[in-house]
Amino acid sequence: MAKRILLTGGTGYIGSHTAVELIHQGYEVIIVDDLSNSEHRTIESIEKIIGTKPEFHQFDLRNSPSLEKLFKDNKFDGIIHFAAKKAVGESVEKPLLYYDVNLNSMLNLLKLMELYKVSNLVFSSSCTVYGQPSRLPVTEDTPFALAESPYGHTKQIGEDILNHTTRTNGQLQALSLRYFNPVGAHPSALIGELPVGTPANLVPFITQTVAGLRSKLKVYGNDYNTPDGTAIRDYIHVVDLAKAHVRAIERMLNNEQKKSYEYFNIGTGKGSSVLEVIQAFERINHTKVPYEVVDRRTGDIVKIYADTTRANHELNWKAQLNLDDMMKSAWKWQKTLIS
Ligand code: NAD
Ligand code: WQD
Repeated sequence: MAKRILLTGGTGYIGSHTAVELIHQGYEVIIVDDLSNSEHRTIESIEKIIGTKPEFHQFDLRNSPSLEKLFKDNKFDGIIHFAAKKAVGESVEKPLLYYDVNLNSMLNLLKLMELYKVSNLVFSSSCTVYGQPSRLPVTEDTPFALAESPYGHTKQIGEDILNHTTRTNGQLQALSLRYFNPVGAHPSALIGELPVGTPANLVPFITQTVAGLRSKLKVYGNDYNTPDGTAIRDYIHVVDLAKAHVRAIERMLNNEQKKSYEYFNIGTGKGSSVLEVIQAFERINHTKVPYEVVDRRTGDIVKIYADTTRANHELNWKAQLNLDDMMKSAWKWQKTLIS
């Protein structure tokens, strides 16, 4: 009997790629999503890639009766909680919306997991919990920094909730994956990132600029204390990230966890500057990215990249794809969106 995994937010960017990898490994995937930041056609795209159509339920996780019915009707072997609002800038403008959605979704989920004795939860966290680390590469033992945004704060609070509830609820095991900068798309170009409105993130802005949807990329500052003056991030291919979730679920189902609450950095361990991303995109896609350097973006940190030793050893996971793979897949996906 295949293990049944619930993906909240599973038609989203990272959830959909994780659904493909889980199904590929023989898991049965059930998706719940309110489609507030994704499209139903992703379900059919997952089926086209992997030959199996995941069961889909459309509702807001804050709707407790709907969520309880899902738990009543299903026995889940594990849950991966992707569902959240994730736009940093929007969170600054609408803090209460972000605290409401991101925290009440998690609280509803945890209450029902306790009630229906579902044990295993993987949580989508973010390197944003670290702020600007004083030492690099950043390890999981680096303390949380003062949250730069309500969004980042909801991730810190989410992890704290898991840390405390796993101590009292003997049934619950939780594992947070702290994603660095996910980019790229599935090599089939059938799923990828679907940014709503003007992209805040670098790579979708690059692809939309080269596709002619934006006039020029603005590079936010080239006066940072870095080799080429532009900020450095740890970009990770979304397919590598998806595979880390499979390993996380396997660790829990195989009772390999050493503590009831664990957390792992999921990056490549390599930092790349904005200009290096642009150069990689141009090189692998044989194109030019029109850009201009402007002032720094408020709230940006200078440099962050992951120490991934713990994930490499404990999850037996390591990123396999490089920046060229990321940029090639991102452009292939963008071209399907404009075709
Ligand atoms: P996404 O917006 O593509 O996916 C999130 C999904 O959750 C969407 O399909 C959306 O419709 C759904 N959703 C949101 N609120 C919901 C609710 N209340 N009930 C039901 N469904 C709801 O985002 P993503 O990039 O796939 O991110 C997934 C998770 O990873 C999020 O928790 C995000 O904070 C986290 N994360 C993302 C990044 C990144 O750069 N993409 C980095 C670090 C962490
Ligand atoms: C990367 C670099 C920008 C756009 C954010 C969130 C984080 C996570 C990932 C959810 C920075 C520069 C960007 C542009 C640019 N999301 N840039 N021109 O800010 O590292 O992380 O997304 O969890 O929480 O904070 O990613 O892609 O926005 O920026 O020069 O048009 O590209 O200044 O140096 P970021 P990003």
